[in-house]
Amino acid sequence: MPQHLYLNAFVMGVGHHEAAWRHPRTDRHRLLDVDHFVELGRIAERGRLDSIFLADILAVGPNIARNTPSVFEPLTLLSAVATHTRHVGLIATASTTYNSPYSLARAFNSLEHISGGRVGWNIVTSAQADEARNFGGPDTPDHSDRYARAEEFVDVVVKLWESWDSDALVLDVEDAVFADPARVHTLDHEGEHFRVRGPLNSPRSPQGRPVLVQAGSSDAGKELAARVAEVVFTAQRSIADARVFYDDLKSRAVRHGRRASDIKILPGIVPYIADTEQRARELEQEFTDLISPDYALRQLSAVFGTDLTGLALDDRLPELPPESEIEGQKSRSTLVRHLATEEDLTVRGLLGRLGGGRGHRSIAGTPEQIADDLIAWADAGGADGFNIMPPYLPGGLEDFVDQVVPILQRRGVFRTDYSAQTLAGNYGIGGHGAGDRSVLGGVATALG
Ligand SMILES: Cc1cc2nc3c(=O)[nH]c(=O)nc-3n(C[C@H](O)[C@H](O)[C@H](O)COP(=O)(O)O)c2cc1C
Repeated sequence: MPQHLYLNAFVMGVGHHEAAWRHPRTDRHRLLDVDHFVELGRIAERGRLDSIFLADILAVGPNIARNTPSVFEPLTLLSAVATHTRHVGLIATASTTYNSPYSLARAFNSLEHISGGRVGWNIVTSAQADEARNFGGPDTPDHSDRYARAEEFVDVVVKLWESWDSDALVLDVEDAVFADPARVHTLDHEGEHFRVRGPLNSPRSPQGRPVLVQAGSSDAGKELAARVAEVVFTAQRSIADARVFYDDLKSRAVRHGRRASDIKILPGIVPYIADTEQRARELEQEFTDLISPDYALRQLSAVFGTDLTGLALDDRLPELPPESEIEGQKSRSTLVRHLATEEDLTVRGLLGRLGGGRGHRSIAGTPEQIADDLIAWADAGGADGFNIMPPYLPGGLEDFVDQVVPILQRRGVFRTDYSAQTLAGNYGIGGHGAGDRSVLGGVATALG
């Protein structure tokens, strides 16, 4: 049997490429147009994609003169998309460093009810110093502290989501029973970072709880993912690297008492699609030519936590701190360093390679070449599916959905219609009911 692929559309503004808003294939005025994002959700749904995903950075970014990473808060925006779609999953990023578990659990549960059970939470610890400065800190908390807080944060959120049994809402008019207190539970959580009594002020969601998604590939990130994540986004540049990551994460999950298939691993790709490979490469080059080096150098500085804005574009990267000394984006710093050294890139060459997906792999080719590539990665054991990061939107997503997806469907590796009602159902990770996807075991005391 061919493997079934899972496909997520990672949608960002008018495209993933950092200069997308300047390319004639985009309409920059749609950056703040809710209908643009509704359209993206509908295109993804037309392609029977599992989900769409919004990232979030809690700061304006390193160089507002050129671009900013996020202008919409993801849950708010996905609420609008939810009311205009029926099947596609809706994954929102939210930080465990700069939120509180109760408010976050509540907001996600609301979107669960609004969307009929199609929500996922991309758990991030917020790696950038600019974000810390918006929340009272002079600098980002240490990496290990952020992940320790994230571990407890996720547990509290899941317990809050599971604090109502699925049959707790009674609504019995005759006997005036609104909810059954025996089926609504307090947590009385008292941990190192949080004290939360519970229960949540919102009944159990249609899919039991949102799907847990994780996107940090450091050691601590992989441990968190292995314990709780159901979908993992990751940047991998070669099949060999992807296989190492895949095997590592799946064996860690098994060590946590889970099945390897409980986690779906989706490396990112930035597809440039055209009728010929030559034309696809030219299209990629058009975007590369629009890169502003001053913006790109500040992005690069953020990855290494080091000021690199003075680098000469035709030089090679200088000696940079190793991953063990990076407190921000650990795994991404290693990926970028390897990319520069393995391909012996100049700084200019490196910035060109990072412009489309900040380190995610670009593929320029025909629809057949792209489909072949995705299948090869999955067949080699490097991926359960892919995080599709179109360099320009909506056209890049339309091209993928209309030209690549039909090939994957003809080859029997992608669905031709939805068969599930929930996001967990799309990803084949359990049913709708209470508790059957619990990662934590039962919750505590019943009210009453
Ligand atoms: C596809 C993808 C999307 C991500 N989206 C976000 C995001 O929206 N916000 C964020 O703070 N970090 C995001 N990250 C970054 C990671 O969550 C993490 O902060 C970074 O990779 C460093 O984590 P690490 O130290 O565990 O490697 C994303 C990573 C990937 C691979």
